[in-house]
Amino acid sequence: MSKTQSSAAQQNSKPAANNLEAFWMPFSANRQFKAAPRMFVAAKDMHYTTDDGRQVLDATAGLWCCNIGHARPKVVKAVQKQIEELDYAPAFQMGHPKVFELASRVATLMPGTLDHVFFTNSGSESVDTALKIALAYHNVRGQAGRTRLIGRERGYHGVGFGGISVGGIVNNRKFFGSLLNGVDHLPHTHNLKENAYSKGIPNWGAHLADELEKIVALHGAETIAAVIVEPVAGSTGVLLPPKGYLQKLREICTRHGILLIFDEVITAFGRCGNAATAAEIFGVQPDIITMAKGLTAGTIPMGAVAVDKKIYDAFMNGPEGAIELFHGYTYSGHPVAAAAGLATLDTYQEEGLFQRSAELAPYWENALHALKGLPHIIDIRNIGLIGAIEMEGIPGKPTARAFEAFLQCFEKGLLIRTTGDTIALSPPLIISKPQIDEIFSTLSTVIKKLA
Ligand SMILES: Cc1ncc(COP(=O)(O)O)c(C=O)c1O
Repeated sequence: MSKTQSSAAQQNSKPAANNLEAFWMPFSANRQFKAAPRMFVAAKDMHYTTDDGRQVLDATAGLWCCNIGHARPKVVKAVQKQIEELDYAPAFQMGHPKVFELASRVATLMPGTLDHVFFTNSGSESVDTALKIALAYHNVRGQAGRTRLIGRERGYHGVGFGGISVGGIVNNRKFFGSLLNGVDHLPHTHNLKENAYSKGIPNWGAHLADELEKIVALHGAETIAAVIVEPVAGSTGVLLPPKGYLQKLREICTRHGILLIFDEVITAFGRCGNAATAAEIFGVQPDIITMAKGLTAGTIPMGAVAVDKKIYDAFMNGPEGAIELFHGYTYSGHPVAAAAGLATLDTYQEEGLFQRSAELAPYWENALHALKGLPHIIDIRNIGLIGAIEMEGIPGKPTARAFEAFLQCFEKGLLIRTTGDTIALSPPLIISKPQIDEIFSTLSTVIKKLA
């Protein structure tokens, strides 16, 4: 297709099937991919179909999002119906019934008094929204000096400027200038010497939360707005919170009037066991929870931020006609996404999927830890239906060994995800025990043959 053809002529003709150049793929090795593409053309339940007609077992729920499996009938029908009935409604100063219903449903799934829900379109937007709400909350209460945000080393909070500023993954930050001012970081909690091969949450490391006291002493509590952490850090390679660690963070934040934000973009909706949130699993009450992914099971983009009643109430002052929060997106609470969200929540409930996640967890744990002793493996970690296999990197070629495992698994009909030299697994919650066996048998075959 020549660039000189008119746009009308271009619209009437199909793009050349083999032209992969125009699409700049996110978080991908573009040149390597385009030289040897891996394409999915369909998905159903636990499987993807490739363009050459192969079935691939989904051990990653897409990107940690398709928790109910693929193309589930209730969601498909709800989306089809909604787009016919009301395709879009303005998000500002107008409403539509489903977004109110979804907010109420999400609020009932949240722990404690996280009673109010702000909608976004992604995890990154949820994080930036949560950080802005935290700053504005202190501002409207007359504590405008609380502007500092505290994240954690190795944290992943999406790719907005807020998220990469509080995040702690070096490559996600270093190319992008000076980021937000006034951000500090807690140390990460990963320690192979102390915690390798822990099953579930590790014993060692609660004291690392005390580092927050040092940060408070350094800057002054009156300058700190919020601490944000993933209860289980996912994208950085599945790092579990040491026993008592999140409780300590909660205590220190409460003592100093600092808001605690749990970024539950991957941990929410049954991923960690029989509860909608990891907060509930760990018994720690944050002030704000960010979500996305499992909210619509990856079908239609949608994120959400659940905030404590005290935060919402602090904004509901001033003249009745005044806008209380100067923030929002054109697609906040999009009708089609709201319909997908409601149908997804119905599916979790009707199929008892959070409970199923908890019931399968011991089987998952045993099958995963049975890989111990295979070549290259230096740690195995798990909680709920999350698993991680950390491998020793090839000297001078970090990430290469895990990526080779990814390629070989794909050839053998298994989709895994790798981050650094860690294989991260997070299957849809509808997975069966034979499918769990299939994942680990394929992985075992592949890992044994890795260089
Ligand atoms: C904890 C966490 N926060 C935020 C995000 C960003 O979500 P999105 O890619 O939808 O912007 C992710 C994505 O993996 C995540 O794991």
